[in-house]
Amino acid sequence: MSDMAIHFYDLHPPTADLKQEVLQGLTRQPRRLSPKLFYDRRGSELFEAITHTPEYYPTRTELGLFERYGSEMAKLLGRDGLLVELGSGSSRKIRLLLDALRPAAYMPVDISRDFLLDAANELAAEFPAIAVHALCADYSRGLELPWCPEELPRAAFFPGSSIGNFEPAEARQLLGHVARALGPGGQLLIGVDLQKDPDVLNAAYNDGEGLTAAFNLNLLARINRELQADFVLDAFHHHAFYNGAEGRMEMHLISAKSQWVEVAGSHFQFATGEGIHTENSYKYTIEGFHKLAAAAGFVPVQVWTDKDDLFSVHCLRVV
Ligand SMILES: C[S@@+](CC[C@H](N)C(=O)[O-])C[C@H]1O[C@@H](n2cnc3c(N)ncnc32)[C@H](O)[C@@H]1O
Repeated sequence: MSDMAIHFYDLHPPTADLKQEVLQGLTRQPRRLSPKLFYDRRGSELFEAITHTPEYYPTRTELGLFERYGSEMAKLLGRDGLLVELGSGSSRKIRLLLDALRPAAYMPVDISRDFLLDAANELAAEFPAIAVHALCADYSRGLELPWCPEELPRAAFFPGSSIGNFEPAEARQLLGHVARALGPGGQLLIGVDLQKDPDVLNAAYNDGEGLTAAFNLNLLARINRELQADFVLDAFHHHAFYNGAEGRMEMHLISAKSQWVEVAGSHFQFATGEGIHTENSYKYTIEGFHKLAAAAGFVPVQVWTDKDDLFSVHCLRVV
């Protein structure tokens, strides 16, 4: 199917930005790379594979909430508007809501360009009545909607607990960008992972098939591919653990030996056991998330949780 079926707005960050972020992140102590850098096509494919592992409870639990409460959620969001999805990935979850929601237009926003294009084209073919306006952009830099007719009411969808990848102050800022893009009265449906037994969390980020490890290591492979770097993937290993003091899962890549790595002409020395911090995933309580949302200009409308209180989906309204 041709890309002409959708409207596509390409604000993918240029390679120069990737280079600057990677060089800065590797120079910091402790070394730090943003989880948004995981997502080239391969990273998106690996993330999809993780969502099917038995250990990764968030996707199946959130999907269960959409299956059970989807029509209630859709009623609150309202029909015939512009529905913006942040970090849409495969757009698998929104499919459960589209029949009930019937938006006039759907705008998936994702940083992973090729994956976004494929997903948006597939969705446009499946739902020909919905105008698909796909936006490839980094939402952590703000959220300017390239297409938003005044007459269409706006709603946003932000599943997968991707909000947990941000430090609380950054999360507040991002939700503030979403609130401004929606305008007063705009509604946000957002998936938020809940605090729980650390054993369940540790298992989810250390699946038996090693897909999360492959996903984490793909960041180094991507840097090799795009920035002429020479990371030896076997010389690093995946390390994920629950940090109880901070209330978050952390992912790191740990150097298995003393080594030098060249990235875009710069050289970095790693000691044995030295890490690169690649992801945080904050876990919230319902009350804690409501506080964060309030600070960003939202009031809670409704919250849904599963029977084991693993995951929550919130409907929030911009005041
Ligand atoms: C954890 S995955 C979630 C995918 C899907 N929404 C789900 O719930 O299964 C995060 C998604 O957000 C996208 N993403 C991550 N950081 C982003 C950023 N800063 N700007 C835009 N998209 C981003 C990734 O490409 C990926 O598709």
